[in-house]
Amino acid sequence: MKYTTIGDTSTKISQIGLGTWQFGSSGWGYGTDFTKEDAIAVVHRALDLGINLIDTAEVYGRGNSEKIVGEAIKGYEREQIIISTKFMPLTIRPSSSIRALRKSLKRLQTSYIDIYLIHWPNPILPLGRTLHHLESMVDEGLIRFIGVSNFSTKRFQTAQQKMQFHRIQVNQINYSIARNKAEKNFLPYAIKEKVTLMAYSPLAQGFLTGKYSPNNIPKGTRRTNTLFRKKNLERGKTLLDLIKIIGKKYDVTPAQVALNWLIKDIAVTAIPGAKSLDQIEANANAGKFELLEEDLHQIRRVLEQFKPRFLF
Ligand SMILES: NC(=O)c1ccc[n+]([C@@H]2O[C@H](COP(=O)([O-])OP(=O)(O)OC[C@H]3O[C@@H](n4cnc5c(N)ncnc54)[C@H](OP(=O)(O)O)[C@@H]3O)[C@@H](O)[C@H]2O)c1
Repeated sequence: MKYTTIGDTSTKISQIGLGTWQFGSSGWGYGTDFTKEDAIAVVHRALDLGINLIDTAEVYGRGNSEKIVGEAIKGYEREQIIISTKFMPLTIRPSSSIRALRKSLKRLQTSYIDIYLIHWPNPILPLGRTLHHLESMVDEGLIRFIGVSNFSTKRFQTAQQKMQFHRIQVNQINYSIARNKAEKNFLPYAIKEKVTLMAYSPLAQGFLTGKYSPNNIPKGTRRTNTLFRKKNLERGKTLLDLIKIIGKKYDVTPAQVALNWLIKDIAVTAIPGAKSLDQIEANANAGKFELLEEDLHQIRRVLEQFKPRFLF
């Protein structure tokens, strides 16, 4: 496992984490394709394989993801695990964010959160007030680090300037080889300013695994992912073919190539979601080879031609 540090701190974090939106979410096949026992086994295998970052959120499975994670980590040393979870600021009252935090702590059966993130910017609320509530939580020892999610670079910079006593250490954003705008938009800033780019949907929700095609589109939550539109799947064929070929060279899967490409940059930690032991094992092993300059060059050339259309 490759490790990096969170933002400008010395706290160690694995460059492959475990995303758990899937846990407790029927839209991801929870309850039909996989069970709570499967999810708990995935967490255990992740931790045993050296993954120390587990990402969840208050909304995932309406709190069930946090509950499953809380149950799964019982018996492990809490200090060895980095839990990131998220809340949505809905009012400026400090009581509302502290209430959200306390509920997450209860579901996760823990006394602190390692990285607490604003899930989405709420443009109708004064951002500074929410950030100052988060700073108070750090001072009270309820959270260790502050993060945000789905913030543009500009919004992130503005937010960072509003901080009084602490820094924002993480921006969790949609970043994969297929949705790669962050490589130019946020990554250079993240490297320069020592901020962690936590890459969500790093497999583009399965698009980069090569198992989906115009005749086999995932159901449920992913119906709204425009990458799975017929035209985009067709546009992605050259990219998928290339990561398959590169994968063969290193005896790895296209998904592992896609994850490896993300974590070549030390500022990036990727948090693929996994629903089975096979998936978590493959993801955990994605850093076990080094893409060569010639591979990166080929990928760059193909990406220049890959122009998927997104609705948002
Ligand atoms: N901050 C935010 O707004 C935000 C938004 C989205 C996600 N997230 C976080 O990021 C995490 C990951 O993103 P995501 O779940 O949207 O997408 P993802 O990680 O790109 O894709 C996950 C899906 O890919 C498939 N998969 C995973 N590993 C695989 C492997 N080794 N081989 C083949 N297939 C594999 C599985 O689905 P199938 O087997 O069914 O294909 C899995 O559910 C989430 O769990 C969540 O923690 C955050």
